[in-house]
Amino acid sequence: KIDIHTWRKSVSFAGSNSPVMSRQELNQACRDRLVRTPTVIAMAGLPARGKTYISRKLARYLHWIGIKTKVFNVGEYRRAVKIHADKNFFDPDNAEAVAVLNQCAQKALEDACTFLSEGGEVAIFDATNITYERRQAIYAYCTQTYCFRVFFVESICDSSEIIEANIKEVKLKSPDYQDVTQEEAVADFLLRIEQYEKRYESIDDKNDEKQFSFIKIFNCGERFLVHKIGGHIQSRVVYFLMNIHVTPRTIYLTRHGESELNVQQRIGGDSPLSLNGRMYADALAEYVANENIPDLIVWTSQMQRTIQTAAKINAPKEQWKALNEINAGICEGLTYLEIAHRYPEEFAARDQTKYHYRYPGGESYQDLVARLEPVIMELERAENVLVVCHQAVARCILAYFLNKDAVDLPYTKVPLHTVIKLTPMAYGCLMECIPLGTEAVNTHRERPKNCRSDRTISEALNDFLEDHVGPNKIRTKSEIVYDSAGTKIETIDIDGNPVSDYCR
Ligand code: ATP
Ligand code: F6P
Repeated sequence: KIDIHTWRKSVSFAGSNSPVMSRQELNQACRDRLVRTPTVIAMAGLPARGKTYISRKLARYLHWIGIKTKVFNVGEYRRAVKIHADKNFFDPDNAEAVAVLNQCAQKALEDACTFLSEGGEVAIFDATNITYERRQAIYAYCTQTYCFRVFFVESICDSSEIIEANIKEVKLKSPDYQDVTQEEAVADFLLRIEQYEKRYESIDDKNDEKQFSFIKIFNCGERFLVHKIGGHIQSRVVYFLMNIHVTPRTIYLTRHGESELNVQQRIGGDSPLSLNGRMYADALAEYVANENIPDLIVWTSQMQRTIQTAAKINAPKEQWKALNEINAGICEGLTYLEIAHRYPEEFAARDQTKYHYRYPGGESYQDLVARLEPVIMELERAENVLVVCHQAVARCILAYFLNKDAVDLPYTKVPLHTVIKLTPMAYGCLMECIPLGTEAVNTHRERPKNCRSDRTISEALNDFLEDHVGPNKIRTKSEIVYDSAGTKIETIDIDGNPVSDYCR
């Protein structure tokens, strides 16, 4: 049996704001090689080698695992000065243009370092950085002026098919090519690459640059060269980069069919599907069959509601414990209303910081993200996958693909009986929601309108009772009755009946 008061005191909210480091502390951190030393990840490579793609994807991953990350794209700085630039602008003999490009790179790097000195943890400097001289300057500035760590990520690609496909996928939409035909744009971009090739020096791991930490990625991950990894962020970055691929595919995400506990508005547990839920399992199997998805793999949790939901799908299935629903600890099997009555402090605390709140004896959303990291890594490696999971788990997976902030993640609407199709695109992800038409209860609890940190427990309870979104189970209007000393006596519904009577 858990004494929640003692337990709560002994647990701090992991991941709550850590203080920003002063410059002096940073220098100290660097000398001691502390784990928290901020890192500049500097991209390197010719145009159309996926540097922006890698930068954004990496930033999304680091953001999801709770590392404050920002991308500084020199192309955007340049477009602020020169919107349309053709191949001549990138000619190394064009002194005026070279000066503009250098200034843009310098400003982006300065902004990246300012971001890190103000509490950022990883700044991704997205530029070509194709010469030894430029990389040396970046290294000197970041390590001597700021004492940050530097990690280079070089993308090397000699496949003309990949490069042409990359140009067509992303470069034609660039403001540089607004008023020209597709053929002209491709031809101009290929000439731009040639301008860069005149000066290109790949990172020299044998001599001049062997003191640097870096990874070289060859032909979209066919081969890697990893050199002098410094610290846990760099090793996580390397691990991530070694798992991603660019083969087109779709990830299908759905919650299990409606369960018996869903119908009762109870959270957690391991109940079987309701009649509606079983109808959804049939509809899902039919939908998957009609979609004709090549080499589909189905992942479920180890809970019977997801296993039953996937049972009739004709594809190989795997069960993951990591996909099990958030563990609500002492609140497992209760309705939200029961939690509000039995554990009002816990109920109010969860509303204040839902992402970090950990149920006594259970988990927080933050814990869930950590538990789901291997699933995300395998999703990155996989091709077409259908993930049959749960409300909180689906929110965490969606947050990764849609780059949602931790504060919004626990309130994402993921209705029952709906398939969510995620198709990774050049710099992001396309999302389509397909309701399969079978009825289900609504298990979504809205974000409370009022989450003030000084909100009293009775205010939180009252707001909840007023806002409650259950399917006709709970009377929505209520009031809390106090005695003359201000102590709560009872919560009554619109008919004057004590709410506690029907939430037992
Ligand atoms: P530029 O220097 O002009 O900004 P870039 O190197 O940033 O170009 P991106 O704009 O990121 O290139 O190119 C995106 C394309 O690169 C996408 O189509 C993506 O599929 C592809 N891509 C992703 N990773 C790699 C890789 N490792 N090697 C080559 N192409 C890749
Ligand atoms: O109600 C269904 C459910 O999957 C519960 O098992 C789980 O505790 C809950 O949703 C998670 O949603 P929230 O974090 O909004 O309470």
